[in-house]
This record gives sequence, C-alpha cells and structure tokens, in this order.
Amino acid sequence: MSALSPIVVIGSINMDLVARTPRIPLAGQTLTGTDFATTPGGKGANQAVAAARLGAHVQMIGAVGDDVFGEALLGNLANAVVDTRAVSRIPGPSGVAQIQVADNGQNSIVVVPGTNGAVTPALIRHHTALIQAAGIVLLQLEIPLETVLAACELCAAANVPVILDPAPAAPLPDAIWPQLAWFTPNETELGLYTGSGLPPETAAKQLLARGVQGVALKRGAEGVYIAASGEEPAWIRAFPVEAIDTVGAGDCFNGAFAVSLLEGSSPADAARFASAAAAISVTRRGAQAAMPTREEVDAFLATHN
Ligand code: RIB
Repeated sequence: MSALSPIVVIGSINMDLVARTPRIPLAGQTLTGTDFATTPGGKGANQAVAAARLGAHVQMIGAVGDDVFGEALLGNLANAVVDTRAVSRIPGPSGVAQIQVADNGQNSIVVVPGTNGAVTPALIRHHTALIQAAGIVLLQLEIPLETVLAACELCAAANVPVILDPAPAAPLPDAIWPQLAWFTPNETELGLYTGSGLPPETAAKQLLARGVQGVALKRGAEGVYIAASGEEPAWIRAFPVEAIDTVGAGDCFNGAFAVSLLEGSSPADAARFASAAAAISVTRRGAQAAMPTREEVDAFLATHN
C-alpha cells in the first residue's frame, strides 16, 4: 500500500451524540432511551478512518472548531493514522450530529454543520498540490456544495478520480456528472437524482447517460448494484449479518471501495471487499469506532463465500 498515492478525503468532521432507543420516535413523541454516547463521526472523517484502518495512506481536508469536540475529533483522526495537517482548527463550534439508533439497527440523524460550513473553495484551493497528488479523492455533501463543485473541477483538471457520496442528497448541477469516477447514492438519495421507485438497473443507465463513469447503488440488506462504462453491471449481494448499528456503514463502504480500487481491484471485487467491510461495521456500535481493519476484512471474506 505504501507505494500508492494517498487517498484524499475532503469533507465533514462531526461529533456524534448518539442515543439508543427502542425505536425512532414519531414527531411529537418522547421516548426513554437506553444509553447515550459521544463518538467521533462525520461522513468525511468516517470515510477517512475506514480507509486508514484498511492500510491506506489517507489525508483529510476539513475543519474543526476551537471547542473541546474539535480537539477530541482531531486526536481521534490522528489515532486512526489519518494525516490531519490539512484540517484547520478555527473559531466556532465543531460540527455535531444528533443521532438516534433504534434497537433494530435503523437510525435517524440531524446534523448541525458548525465549522464544516467553513470548508470553503478558498480553503481547499490552499491544498491544491495535495489534491493533485491524490490517487483518489472522496467527497460527500456535508460541506458547502460550492466547495464540492470546486473540488470536482480541480480533480477533473488533474485527472484525479473522484468518488462522490451524495449524502445528504442535494440537487447537483449537470456539469458535475462527467467529473465523477463513481457516484454512490443509497436508495433514498438515488430518488432525488432519478426519481424514486426506479429499478437500480434503470437508474444506473440514466446516471451513466449523464456522463458519470461508474455508479455503486447502495441498497442496504439487498446489496450493491455496480455499473460502469466498459464493465459488465453486477449485483454484489450483502453479506447476511445481525446489524445492531448502521451509522457510518455507507461511509465504511466508500472508504473501503476507494482502497480496493486504488489497489487495482475490478469494480465488482472492490464492491465485494467494501460490502464485507460494511457488513462488519454494522455489527458494532459507533461510526469510526466500528470501522474494521484489513485483517478483519480478509478473515471475514475467507469465511463468507
Ligand atoms: O454517515 C454517518 C454520519 O452522518 C454520522 O457519523 C454523522 O456524523 C453524520 O454525518
């Protein structure tokens, strides 16, 4: 791995405030939870930690606040061996996510961006050399959209492949599609881009026709549908596991998918590797805390044909 170019993640860094509850409360309902934890999260940071645990050289571009969460979040990334030299510490509150995890593993999340909102195009242009040297850039939509668009332009000009996870889903301009190597929505997010209820096979064709090079449509327990120009489309079925917490599972998939693609795997093999990593992650609590090591994923794949 060490000879490969780094994976650069440009994205959010949050502190997750997680309440465990029998079920997701309805509007206006108060429920008594069973436990509470404060754990590092944020879609960007989660993807960075997922890739680093699998042995990749990962550089993070983002921002945390000057509060206690900022310090803890930076420390946690450093412990996971993510290079944080391009993470700014700026005045203001760090991003937080208020999360409920139900006993059946489902979750609901409210994110307050805090200093993730300060990850501006100007801030990332400051790290142009780092982005140009990346093997793959990972993006999500928890930082300002104009920054995501600026990052995609920079990567397109430097021929750096981008994997965009459109989470949380937001309308995207037409110009972005040809700049994406991979687009990885879950079922809910996909609905915003192609209309809901379409079979994945049809939705994938629609997205490829817009110019995106590949799509990995994440369908939870159903698996992942992969389609890319010049490749046979494939369903990678999910590994059957007992999910206790799905927070960060999509991030785990993206981090692991990037690692495996960068190592030269075919898209289908990379998606299988990433599905195994995500399957392990849902059997554990927390977002970053649940990301598996390379040894764990290899052992899982060896016993799950
Ligand atoms: O994808 C999971 C993440 O979404 C959580 O860690 C939370 O911070 C929100 O950003």
